[in-house]
Amino acid sequence: MKILVTGGAGFIGSAFVRMSIGETDWRVVNLDKLTYAGNLENLAAVDGNERYRFVHGDICDARAVDSILSEEKPDAIVHFAAESHVDRSILSPEPVIRTNLHGTFTMLDAARSHGTARFLHVSTDEVYGSVAAPLDATEKFPLNPSSPYSASKAGSDLLARAYFVTYRLPVVVTRASNNYGPYQFPEKLIPLMIANAMENRALPVYGDGMQVRDWLYVEDHCRGILAALEKGRDGEVYNIGGNRSLPNLEVVRKVLSLAGKPESLIEYVTDRPGHDRRYALSSEKLMGETGWRPEMDFETGLKRTIEWYAANSPWVARVRSGEYRAYYEKNYGGRTVAR
Ligand code: NAD
Ligand code: DAU
Repeated sequence: MKILVTGGAGFIGSAFVRMSIGETDWRVVNLDKLTYAGNLENLAAVDGNERYRFVHGDICDARAVDSILSEEKPDAIVHFAAESHVDRSILSPEPVIRTNLHGTFTMLDAARSHGTARFLHVSTDEVYGSVAAPLDATEKFPLNPSSPYSASKAGSDLLARAYFVTYRLPVVVTRASNNYGPYQFPEKLIPLMIANAMENRALPVYGDGMQVRDWLYVEDHCRGILAALEKGRDGEVYNIGGNRSLPNLEVVRKVLSLAGKPESLIEYVTDRPGHDRRYALSSEKLMGETGWRPEMDFETGLKRTIEWYAANSPWVARVRSGEYRAYYEKNYGGRTVAR
């Protein structure tokens, strides 16, 4: 089995590549543009493995994608690459629309012309928009996105479905809740709060901090994707949730308590425009069809994550200074560019 992973230098994609190399005998090709979110340091553990290959390229570049598929002929594509941050999508929607919509179209269309046997599209619970308590969104919930990010993910999610319905491309879509864990870029809530707490800097909480998110440990997400990839049915959507919905303020307080820092570091700041109040997912379908379930309980996962950031403060410092971007030149020197 050979898989093409897009966005494999990001937070979740790199965890998925490490897991695929470490726990299967698959060959993995990683196509990534190395935007600010792509960090090849996350993949140092698989560098040099003969089953792993990195290709530097843009999923919007149809020629490059076509040439990779012609050369590699992967059995499956696992499509992570996206502009993933809601706040950035509000400040600057253009790259988000380009990569998430046009890039997904490029990947789907290339898979169609090459007859790729499986296309797994990594989507998000944000496509359902805010979900009123006490409901948990099932896969049958209407799509009701709020931000340029979630609208672009809803569009790409539906495009994936259209490629199944129209062209019978064997597509599976997964919609996951908020991930956390090692190697997450410190712009997202949990790593930002950990990094700031460690430096005794203010922890910015948007609005009243009572927005609810469902937290999923990144390895549980990757196992859910593997389960959907191997056992999911063509044309189906599978939610992947952590089954742990918490208000942001409670998450921030837990971070401070585990890091041994005072709550006086919390600073309430202006709310995010269009901020969804609550996400909550039912993952019954994936659990019932594949036997997958989230294994990491939130307190253990959070403690492990804080320990990882404490032990890897040079990684955080290199990300914050931009120095991490030198890894590509130093270790690959332009030898892996997609043409
Ligand atoms: P990330 O921002 O950490 O990584 C994105 C990766 O995609 C980076 O390596 C980046 O370089 C690459 N990329 C961006 N534009 C590209 C392009 N045009 N061509 C090739 N590569 C490009 O994202 P993440 O948090 O790891 O999320 C991965 C996927 O999972 C995304 O599709 C996201 O929507 C989805 N998702 C994320 C979460 C979450 O909590 N982070 C939850 C559910 C779903
Ligand atoms: O739900 C899945 C989604 O989770 C993914 O599709 C996205 O790619 C991912 O970025 C994430 O989106 P969120 O907007 O939920 O994540 P973020 O970490 O940006 O914010 C989590 C919550 O914390 C949200 O309610 C906003 C709030 N927040 C965030 C930041 C960065 C704060 O209060 N302060 C902050 O500084």
